[in-house]
Amino acid sequence: MTSNDQYKDLIKKAMEAKEKAYVPYSKFHVGAALKTKEGKIYTGCNIESASYTPTICAERTAIAKAISEGDKDFEVIAVTGDSDYTFPCGVCRQVIREFGRDIKVIVANTEDDFRVYTLDELLPNSFGPEDLEENGGRDK
Ligand code: THU
Repeated sequence: MTSNDQYKDLIKKAMEAKEKAYVPYSKFHVGAALKTKEGKIYTGCNIESASYTPTICAERTAIAKAISEGDKDFEVIAVTGDSDYTFPCGVCRQVIREFGRDIKVIVANTEDDFRVYTLDELLPNSFGPEDLEENGGRDK
């Protein structure tokens, strides 16, 4: 599979996950598909709450599923939503950042219409796990 085909497959899975969004309040559907470096895929959708603040975004649903299954080496996450190029919110960018600055973020309208970024492009000069290391070290 070429990397483009792999992206298409991941986007398709994000689109399928989007159909499962539980969004009675915003009616805004989002789906995500997260691929590990080993090639395992975890999907997620947004899940809202009548109490509003417990709402979890699609990206973080996928990440929670992966982490709770013991996977944390992520290569790429595809995101698709009801707007034109739905980008991950700031909170999700920070949560993705936890697991690597070079994780690719695909923002997709369709399988053939998407943009690819790195997390670092979407959240430059970020705070992360290295800041809490003994020397506050950053990998240069
Ligand atoms: N949402 C996501 O699922 N991911 C994002 O990165 C942006 C926002 C969801 C949260 C809420 O259910 C709805 O979109 C409207 O904000």
